Amino acid sequence: MHNSSVAALPRITTLPDWLRQELRSDHAGETGAVWLYFGIIKYSRDPMLTAFARSHLKTEQQHLKYFETWLSSTDKSVLTPLWRIAGWLLGSLACLGGAAVVYLTIETVETFVIDHYQQQILKLEQQQQYPEVAELLRQFMFDEHHHCQDAVHRHDIEDTWTTRCWRAIVTQGSVLAVNFARRL
Ligand SMILES: [Fe+2]
Ligand SMILES: [Fe+2]
Repeated sequence: MHNSSVAALPRITTLPDWLRQELRSDHAGETGAVWLYFGIIKYSRDPMLTAFARSHLKTEQQHLKYFETWLSSTDKSVLTPLWRIAGWLLGSLACLGGAAVVYLTIETVETFVIDHYQQQILKLEQQQQYPEVAELLRQFMFDEHHHCQDAVHRHDIEDTWTTRCWRAIVTQGSVLAVNFARRL
């Protein structure tokens, strides 16, 4: 559960442009995360994996709801339908490779998201601005850290050429998506 309520957060229109852009990318990311787990749940035939995805999905839906409620429609990415499709495709594709690939994908995505939130928190701390926003992002980052650890503990992820390649594709795809979502 998250302590901060959306009502306690500063009005989105009062925030500086850079922060609004970052929050737009967060909304896009959480949208992608929700649909990633939808894709996994749809195509997984492994009950353990489905249960794993359902429990993570619950948290991602909470995260998304915060941004949905807080951000105005003009502060959300115009590419939101694309982020849903991208998440769904990634989840479905990973499922084709089996449970190990799904856990590897979750570990990779969550590692990226942790770093993404961390950078935003650091910038807010350095500027000594909006501590309530930093606190909310910290709570979300903690959840993502838990998701990442959960994926790591479920499966021994071997460090092979193929896993390194898949990690690079997923990470670079996420970098690209964040860059687009900040602007559009
Ligand atoms: Fe999340
Ligand atoms: Fe997550």
